[in-house]
Amino acid sequence: METIVGLKRTHKCGTLREEHVGQEVTVMGWAQVYRNLGGVIFVDLRDRSGLVQVVFNADKDKEMFEKADTIRSEYVLAVVGEVVLRNADTINDKVPTGKIEILAKELRILSKAETPPFYIEENSNVREEVRLKYRYLDLRRPDMQRLMELRHRVTKLARDYYDSQGFLEIETPMLTKSTPEGARDYLVPSRVHPGHFYALPQSPQLYKQLLMLSGMDRYIQIVKCFRDEDLRADRQPEFTQIDLEMSFVNIDDVLEVNEGFMKLIFKEILGIDLKTPFRRMTYQEAMDRFGSDKPDTRFGFELVDLSDIAGSCGFKVFSDAVAKGGSVRAINCKGGDAKLSRRDLDSLTDFAKIYKAKGMAWINVGENELKSPITKFLTQEEIDAILNRMQAEPGDIIMFAADRNEIVYDVLGNLRLELARRFDLLKKDEYDLLWVTDFPLFEYSEEEKRYVAKHHPFTMPLDEDIPLLSENPQKVRAKAYDMVFNGTEVGGGSLRIFNADLQQQMFEALGFTKEEAWEQFGFLMTAFRYGTPPHGGMAYGLDRLVMLLAGRDSIRDVIAFPKVKDASELMTETPGTVAPKQLKELHLKLDDLI
Ligand code: AMO
Ligand code: AMP
Repeated sequence: METIVGLKRTHKCGTLREEHVGQEVTVMGWAQVYRNLGGVIFVDLRDRSGLVQVVFNADKDKEMFEKADTIRSEYVLAVVGEVVLRNADTINDKVPTGKIEILAKELRILSKAETPPFYIEENSNVREEVRLKYRYLDLRRPDMQRLMELRHRVTKLARDYYDSQGFLEIETPMLTKSTPEGARDYLVPSRVHPGHFYALPQSPQLYKQLLMLSGMDRYIQIVKCFRDEDLRADRQPEFTQIDLEMSFVNIDDVLEVNEGFMKLIFKEILGIDLKTPFRRMTYQEAMDRFGSDKPDTRFGFELVDLSDIAGSCGFKVFSDAVAKGGSVRAINCKGGDAKLSRRDLDSLTDFAKIYKAKGMAWINVGENELKSPITKFLTQEEIDAILNRMQAEPGDIIMFAADRNEIVYDVLGNLRLELARRFDLLKKDEYDLLWVTDFPLFEYSEEEKRYVAKHHPFTMPLDEDIPLLSENPQKVRAKAYDMVFNGTEVGGGSLRIFNADLQQQMFEALGFTKEEAWEQFGFLMTAFRYGTPPHGGMAYGLDRLVMLLAGRDSIRDVIAFPKVKDASELMTETPGTVAPKQLKELHLKLDDLI
């Protein structure tokens, strides 16, 4: 096997142009395409910068020509040669190096390659499992290389931008105490302390608050976070946050500095001038109009409350839902009649059932007559009132959900997204950014039969809602905000409680006894006694941000080595078993399951 001893790479393959004609260059890379046309062999050589065509001539150097004849796909080569202009008829306008080629003088085969399991080419259709098993080959593909480069650029812009705003990058521990972000922890057993565990951080939340106490003023970290939760297209068990915290700030200060960051990356990455400040929408408005706390406002199909009309109607499903404290809401699928068949309506009903709908009543508004499974239960006045409220016109289809509010929001919120997908309304080159504010501080957990923090237990309530903490916790709103980008939550944060008494009250509302609160968070409450600045911050999901900037649908595409649905990594076959000796050192015994 040959080496590169004595050679120095002078150029990257994709950078060669007409201006290099006449120069002797040394390039190194992978053989993309190989063609033997009798007396000449053409090899496209590829590195991260792109492709260049190399020519081997039998007339010029027979020995080298024969060696070139052994080249196969993905062989790694070093080539020394002269850059020459191509003949007019062989110019390739599709590649930036298409006007020139390299006339080879020296060829070294640095590494041979077996036939790869798939072609290394742009936008491959290969199954994702195969791509992930051979991720190192998948990452050779130009689109994956561009995605990694994009991610690098966003990360670098983040570092530079927040640096320019006075933020310090400070690392926080990975082996840490469990923090309550709401997901399950990944635990690491301690060898030195039998029966004791570290948790991998779900986020650096408490450390960054403590750094504010330390007077660091502004903190940023690009940091891995770990959450043992079910995976989705936009969720990974380990993911990266751009995490930040600021002292002596109000909500506006936090939002403003982050709008500045988004403005910068939109300009630098997409060449788009983003308008700031972003729109703000309260959580309640987002739920009422879009059925979601991360509304995609690029399209309509907004929710409309019909509870007052439907509550007293003769259709029991509707009146019962309202009587039980729920609601009846609907969306107007504009022009739906022309686009949706009866079968489509059935499949949309099945779709609604995924979100626990018991059915999906609809009214198809015709020129002269209505088609609907429910109009027979309604009076003409009720029908008129509904159609009027829905601003229905001939050709529209009204779709209803009647249930508990959470279900109604969830069903219609997802239904409008499904309609947008079916009608191709989710344009990747339209950018919709907004803040959702005034989240509820708590949500009721059916599983735990108690209130849990919607964001985390350190979130500050709205001042006017503090008196409701003990009596009426479900009504308390938080000084919390999410940044929503095309219907995805790309970031979220809050102002924090910085007063030990209020923090104690918060723990009580969450059902912690004083002892429990002290055991888990004693260090924080002790710290609060030594002079705490008002502070707040947020964290972006870097993977999600890059995914959206790249117009991709899955964060797996922008993570070099992602995990699949069952949280395993296919290439290294992680997680795996460990040697009995390792378990013994960690004082662990496996139960019979394994
Ligand atoms: P939060 O839990 O909202 O806030 O997380 C911040 C952002 O991280 C992203 N994100 C994820 N991305 C991929 N996979 C996941 N499993 C995942 N979970 C979250 C989201 C989300 O908006 N400590 C607080 C921030 C703060 O209050 O300052 C926190 O972690 O884009
Ligand atoms: P049924 O009387 O059960 O045949 O239902 C009549 C229509 O109402 C059907 O189109 C059902 O899909 C729909 N429907 C049933 N339950 C609900 C509900 N909770 N919300 C909205 N529509 C419903």
